[in-house]
Amino acid sequence: MNDSYLIKGGKPLKGEVILSGAKNVALKTIIASLMFKGDVILKNIPKINDVLDLIELIKSLGVKADFIEKNTLIINSDSLKSNRVELQYGSKIRVSFMLFAPLLHRYGECFVPNPGGCRIGARPIDRTINGLIALGVKVNYDSETGYYQAKIINKPKGKYRFEKPSHTGTELLMMIGLMTDEKVEIDNIANEPEIDDLILYLNSAGANIKEEKNKITISKNPELKQKKAFTIMSDRNELVTYATLAVASHGNIIIGPIKESLIASFLEIMRKAGAGVEKIAKDKFRFFYQDGIKPVNIETSPHPGFMTDWQPSWAILMLVAKGKSVIHERVFENRFSYVEELKKLGAKIDFIDIKVENPENFYHFNYEKNKEYQQTIKIQGGYELHNAILNIADLRAGAALACAALLASGETVVNGASILERGYEDFVEKIKKLGGDIKKV
Ligand code: EPU
Repeated sequence: MNDSYLIKGGKPLKGEVILSGAKNVALKTIIASLMFKGDVILKNIPKINDVLDLIELIKSLGVKADFIEKNTLIINSDSLKSNRVELQYGSKIRVSFMLFAPLLHRYGECFVPNPGGCRIGARPIDRTINGLIALGVKVNYDSETGYYQAKIINKPKGKYRFEKPSHTGTELLMMIGLMTDEKVEIDNIANEPEIDDLILYLNSAGANIKEEKNKITISKNPELKQKKAFTIMSDRNELVTYATLAVASHGNIIIGPIKESLIASFLEIMRKAGAGVEKIAKDKFRFFYQDGIKPVNIETSPHPGFMTDWQPSWAILMLVAKGKSVIHERVFENRFSYVEELKKLGAKIDFIDIKVENPENFYHFNYEKNKEYQQTIKIQGGYELHNAILNIADLRAGAALACAALLASGETVVNGASILERGYEDFVEKIKKLGGDIKKV
């Protein structure tokens, strides 16, 4: 299998990128579709490795799922025949734990392995499990097999307040709320726009999910049935990857379609850095290089802040900024797997310690007092990058490394293409269309 990219860097990238559908909506709408009766049609589903792995997983459970056009998926789960997610499928993809919802919905009991996925920190699911228990689901974990067993004793009901928000946790508990006529309230939820798209999808099929500022209420749910095909939103993480690449490569790229409100904090920081940003249509932006890039420090935070998924791309832009910048990661622990790799290209990046007043509150992961964390990097930008052999450890880091290789002189090999392609559709084709020199080897 060709799992590396051979990249000759140094060219300004120019042209247009049509964004694919959002990975983090596609996966959830596919899982939620297993709670529907009859056929479900989803449009704008990206053909990326995570989606293909999830389709294989649901097929292993007896569900029918096929692409009828490049990005149009038809699903019918009337033939679902198992309440157990096999480890060989579940371990490949992190969202497999969200199968709790449709399997409990259908069988009242299910067996789901501890999730796999990207290696960005410990990534426990304790908040979600506590939420399931609070809503009345009985959950046991067998540490020998690595499996959760969940069972509905009485219909889920009541309230759960996330101690700290969780994006997939919010979505999973919301789906659990769909299997009862009782009222379910989930408080201190995550506010990511991908969750809103999932709500739109479920409500268009008859669900009754209400979202106020930090709270979701679910009540009186009829059987879910699709009335018309649902088109998922564009991938804002993909936009950030190509937008930063446009500017860092001294290029010029038009990107869309995207709603401005989904990327507002990114646009603000881009303008602050002196990047060229122009809105050229209601849902289209042009990103381009102009008169030198300034260093800008960022702190990641949940929506509407500067997203954690965007910081590896920000680091790439800051490599071409003249001066020092700091990136402080607050959402995940250990999301800097790209740092040692970028150093191989000659990048000047160091981990630094920044004193934080109340780290338990400041960080969104479960902060432990005596554990060592590396949450902050300092980048000294303005140096030329040279070629090297790089290894991808996680999805967003992978995109950053491929982009860095596109800026570097000479030929760079980036190993682990399949990890990047978990989340980026037609990456090689899109880069080639922009004039980049890349091939799979
Ligand atoms: N956390 C816990 N316990 C929990 C849940 C979360 O400690 O029970 C911690 C996490 O380890 C993390 C923080 O809380 O440090 C926030 O995690 P959250 O649950 O919100 O993230 P997630 O649902 O696992 C989703 C996306 C991520 C995206 C984040 C933030 C999907 C499949 N994944 O992860 O996307 O970065 O929300 O918006 O929707 C990606 O696409 O590459 C990706 C990692």
